[in-house]
Amino acid sequence: MAAATTTVYPEAASTDGGRLSVGGCDAVELAREFGTPAYVYAEDDLRARARQLRGAMERHHGPRSTVAFASKAFPCTAALRLFREEGLAVDVASAGELHLARRAGYEASEIVVHGNAKSVGELEAALGTTIVVDNAAELERLSGLAGREQRVLLRITPGVSTDTHAAVATGQADSKFGFSMQDAPAAIERAAAALDLRGLHVHVGSQIFDEQPHRESIAALATLGAFPEYDLGGGFGVAYTDDQRSVDLDARLAAMVAAAHALLDAEGRHLTIEPGRALVAAAGVTLYTVESVKRNVSTWVAVDGGMSDNLRPLLYGSPYRADVADRLGGDTVCHLAGKHCESGDVIARDVALDDPRPGDVVATPVTGAYGHAMANNYNGVPRPPVIFCSGGRARVVVRRETVEDLHARDL
Ligand SMILES: Cc1ncc(COP(=O)(O)O)c(C=O)c1O
Repeated sequence: MAAATTTVYPEAASTDGGRLSVGGCDAVELAREFGTPAYVYAEDDLRARARQLRGAMERHHGPRSTVAFASKAFPCTAALRLFREEGLAVDVASAGELHLARRAGYEASEIVVHGNAKSVGELEAALGTTIVVDNAAELERLSGLAGREQRVLLRITPGVSTDTHAAVATGQADSKFGFSMQDAPAAIERAAAALDLRGLHVHVGSQIFDEQPHRESIAALATLGAFPEYDLGGGFGVAYTDDQRSVDLDARLAAMVAAAHALLDAEGRHLTIEPGRALVAAAGVTLYTVESVKRNVSTWVAVDGGMSDNLRPLLYGSPYRADVADRLGGDTVCHLAGKHCESGDVIARDVALDDPRPGDVVATPVTGAYGHAMANNYNGVPRPPVIFCSGGRARVVVRRETVEDLHARDL
């Protein structure tokens, strides 16, 4: 009973015969070998997407371009190493992410540091990187810590609204991020006097499908003067279910670069983009095991993970596809429930599975971004491993947590 045609599994996955394999590794065998829940990534997809984005920026803008991976989407040392090999820079948003980037081999010159509430310790750790200054207090603090050699960008909030979930919209007036358009001129003057002000940064939000907010934010930057560098942020929208369409990255970057050339006279300047989700979301699949099937008003299929490994359904009401990994498709409409003690812990609603039974392995595609990143130990559930698959070989790059890890910090 296989209706395996889907658009949301990794490129390097197969659904032939209704049976899922990722990077040449059979999903049910992965579950047997490594246990569930498990985050499984098609390593070749990570590389391919990095090459696609780098290639597009170089084609549309030339060598003065940087693709910085927004590591918050997947803060995993092995992924950071892979992206560094592929020539990507990295964006971090805390001392912890900075530590991971350094551990993965990134040099200070390849790191962009974000944060709207950076501590003195975080600023000190970030010296020598490119620091994106968010607010006036930080600008003063950094001017006291660093000299004129410290590279900075100023994060500008352009007052642009976006059609995305309010929790991940950041470009609107009264956002908690960045300098408002009114405050920007004074901040520019202050930063130019004290630090190596390279340019401006803007990030209008995540899961942005529409081109207009990017264009409007570039137009807003153009009113603030000319700079050697511009960082245009990330946020490129990704399809989570078969009825959605991911942003066409090549077309979107072509349009953004054209707008930057026209409005910022950016041809000879340095342009950076900071994609997170667009690099990693579709490369990842989470595997679970079905523990129970309950026929109530609805059919509830309960698995061995949930809001501890994927918070997005609860945070944003995000939809997901799900399949029994060796019988893709099906017509049993059900809710895929997590194991946690909240009724809201539902991974996917109204999904069609093939007669799900206890013991089945269930896969949820497009879980490569902000899953591992936001994983937690609610209900004392150890966090899942991360497994990279390529050419039929699987390697664990982050081990599963143990119950001993749950009390490792106790004194
Ligand atoms: C400053 C900044 N850059 C880039 C990103 C990456 O966004 P996305 O993963 O949607 O591409 C974020 C996400 O929160 C961000 O805050």
